[in-house]
Amino acid sequence: MTSTPRTRVLTGITTTGTPHLGNYVGAIRPTVQASRSPNTDGFYFLADYHALIKCDDPARIQRSTLEIAASWIASGLNTDKVTFYRQSDIPEIPELTWFLTCVTGKGLLNRAHAYKAAVDKNHAAGNDPDSDVTAGLFMYPVLMGADILMFKAHKVPVGRDQIQHIEMARDMASSFNHLYGEHFVLPEAVVEESVALLPGLDGRKMSKSYDNTIPLFAPAAQMRKQIASIVTDSKAPGEAKSTEGSALFQIYQAFASVEETAALAKAYADGIAWGDAKQVLFERIDREIAPMREQYQELIHNPAKLDQILLAGADKARQMATPFIKELRHAVGLRALSSGSCTSTGKDTKVALPSFKQYREKDGQFYFKLLDAQGQLLLQSLGFASPKDAGQTIARLQTEGLTGLAELRHLLLPISADIQAAAGQSLEILRSANSNSKK
Ligand code: TRP
Repeated sequence: MTSTPRTRVLTGITTTGTPHLGNYVGAIRPTVQASRSPNTDGFYFLADYHALIKCDDPARIQRSTLEIAASWIASGLNTDKVTFYRQSDIPEIPELTWFLTCVTGKGLLNRAHAYKAAVDKNHAAGNDPDSDVTAGLFMYPVLMGADILMFKAHKVPVGRDQIQHIEMARDMASSFNHLYGEHFVLPEAVVEESVALLPGLDGRKMSKSYDNTIPLFAPAAQMRKQIASIVTDSKAPGEAKSTEGSALFQIYQAFASVEETAALAKAYADGIAWGDAKQVLFERIDREIAPMREQYQELIHNPAKLDQILLAGADKARQMATPFIKELRHAVGLRALSSGSCTSTGKDTKVALPSFKQYREKDGQFYFKLLDAQGQLLLQSLGFASPKDAGQTIARLQTEGLTGLAELRHLLLPISADIQAAAGQSLEILRSANSNSKK
């Protein structure tokens, strides 16, 4: 009678640049599409703490955050269905970063690609190995581990260059679990092989670092002008052209249907003029982008609305993060002094579990409540017409933990934030007890 287990998918976007067509095709579009699939809970966030490692220009961080948030929403991300938030709105993340810092070997971080690349560069230049390397760069993987482990993500879609970071997050989770009990889910990297790698204006991979990008939501006239500057060969109109190695063709392919792509291939063979091919490309892209561009413009000019959306997302995220960090604080020994076990040393042994009680009231309806191990009331349901409905709701709370709690709140009596935190913690305990007993 258990419901299908839900998969948590989480990814972050560093807020240092303006989204371009390469980001759209390679990350935004596939992620927005995937976020619509059933049985997944998407967590997407603006990694603005990470941005500080790469960028010391406050205006740029702020502008980029605005542009990226507006781009994702305009591209169809449904912020009611997913959890979309700003990393810096979740104070539990830096706290978790510290907990993880304390279980992460320095040697592990020494091996991180980005840090090693900086050291190698210094070696080559004859500098001190750590010259110009901040502790922020060194700690980058731990902050990223906190992003992922905070929300018990199962799957983390990333580019190839980030796989090592996910592996490090697994290491951190294992170390912590080993020391303090099973608190973290071990995440897995998902690298989408099939999405297009878009070439830029000069034919190299479209990337901010090559300065060859086409901004996703530039005004139409600017986009047309940039498309006109895509590098082509010098074949004259009427001469057959090769699709092989043609950046223009590859970009077209990333937007067009199979039939449209075949038609352009034929036009190439028939000697279409480069100017005309560029017009075809512009029109095809604009057909997809124009409606979103309008919404983008509206959002960009209404930053207060974006703030509101992001804060609502942070609220949703913190319904998980707040009780979870409490659980972790307790696990490591940051506890109220009056909370017992002060006198005993060594690791905690198995604690009694919280439990659900089902019953029928005089009104003929069916109810349940959740009690913690000491019998304190944590959750009280509203009335259900049948015991089956009540049972199914309990089953979802047991298997889905905090996400279930957030989604099923309309079936429960309102509770204070403190009790809610305790309830969330209890549900997560039940959830991991359940999944452990299934292993
Ligand atoms: N480091 C990632 C990148 O540069 C961004 C990021 C930060 C991230 N935190 C994350 C990605 C957590 C996935 C999960 O692309």
